[in-house]
Formats: sequence, C-alpha cells, structure tokens
Amino acid sequence: MEKNKQGAEKKQSFDLWKLTRPVFFVGFMGAGKSTIARRLARRLHIPSVDVDTLVERTARKKTSEIFEEEGEETFRVMEHQILEEVTELEPCFVSCGGGIVKLKSNRDLLKQAGYVIYLKVDVDEAVSRISNLATRPLLNDLDDARKLNKQRMALYHEVADLTLNTAGKTSGHVAALVQRILKKEGILCRQEK
Ligand code: S3P
Repeated sequence: MEKNKQGAEKKQSFDLWKLTRPVFFVGFMGAGKSTIARRLARRLHIPSVDVDTLVERTARKKTSEIFEEEGEETFRVMEHQILEEVTELEPCFVSCGGGIVKLKSNRDLLKQAGYVIYLKVDVDEAVSRISNLATRPLLNDLDDARKLNKQRMALYHEVADLTLNTAGKTSGHVAALVQRILKKEGILCRQEK
C-alpha cells in the first residue's frame, strides 16, 4: 500500500477485479454476446476476447468470406483452434460465435474450462439488433434461422451454467445482472490490494 507524506496509508479508491475462471457467452447470433462481454470488460478492467474476431485475424478474412470461399467446415476447425487457445489465457470474458456449440469437442471444452452463460434471444429480436445482416452468412433466410435457433437451443442449454433471457432488456441491464451473479457464484472476485 502506498504511503503519503505524513506516512499514513493512502486508501485505494477503486476495486480491482479478477475472474477465477473464463466466462464464455454463448447464444444465437444477435443475442448480445460481444456487447455484454465488452461492457463487462470496460466496467471491471478485465480483458474480453471475441472468438470470431480472432478467427478473422488469423485467417485475414471476414467470416462471410471464409464461409463463401472455404466453407463452414473450415471455419469450424479454425473456431475450435481459437477456442482451445483462449482457454489457456488468464481468465477473461469470451464471446463465442453462435455456432460454437455445434462441435461436441467445443461443448466439452466450454463445460470443462469455464463458466458458460447462455444469452437467450428469439430470431426476430436478434435480426432487429444486427445492423449488417450480410456479415452473418447463416441469417440469410429467416425461416431457416428460426429452425437453426430451435435446433441449437438444446446444445446451448447443455453447456450453460446460467441462462438469461435477454428479450426486451438493455445491454446495461443484462451486464449488471451478469456482474451480480458472477460475484455471487464466486467467479468474479476482488483482487487483493
Ligand atoms: C455463426 C455465428 C456468427 C459467426 C458465424 C457463424 C453461427 O457469430 O461465428 O457467422 O453459426 O451461428 P455471432 O453469433 O457472433 O454472430
């Protein structure tokens, strides 16, 4: 602890936080995974990473280009490699692409490596939240997207430690809720000063 001129201890006026395990956000496209992860990261001064962004940086291509030029399968392989690498980092907030739960190996990794939060959203609300639908190759057809969300629900539930329905909630509201629950669960702790 730092001392002032008179030798008295100066009390630190802010708290520093840490995660005891990585926190993974899963859920359908447009559920708000990246927004919530970034919000919490800013608020708590803990890093956040986005699996899609890391895949794009590694491939030097946009997700839509990887799907178009190399196919979904190649994207899934890259996504898996990035997820493995992310689990080795200091625990941080991780936003995952909506399809991360497709591979059993990813589901096993998520369950074993961290605390998984399923942000639930229906497709119509999800679509209204995404500004550029061209960036989401699997959201081209609304009926197909509804079917896909339905199919994936069981997989999201399989990995989730916590499910939060985001319908009609602001990202600030969801982030505050997550913060409270992580503290209560002992996943988010104050760092020793
Ligand atoms: C996908 C979701 C996208 C991205 C890719 C495939 C999916 O991520 O990984 O387009 O299969 O649901 P977001 O959920 O972040 O949009």
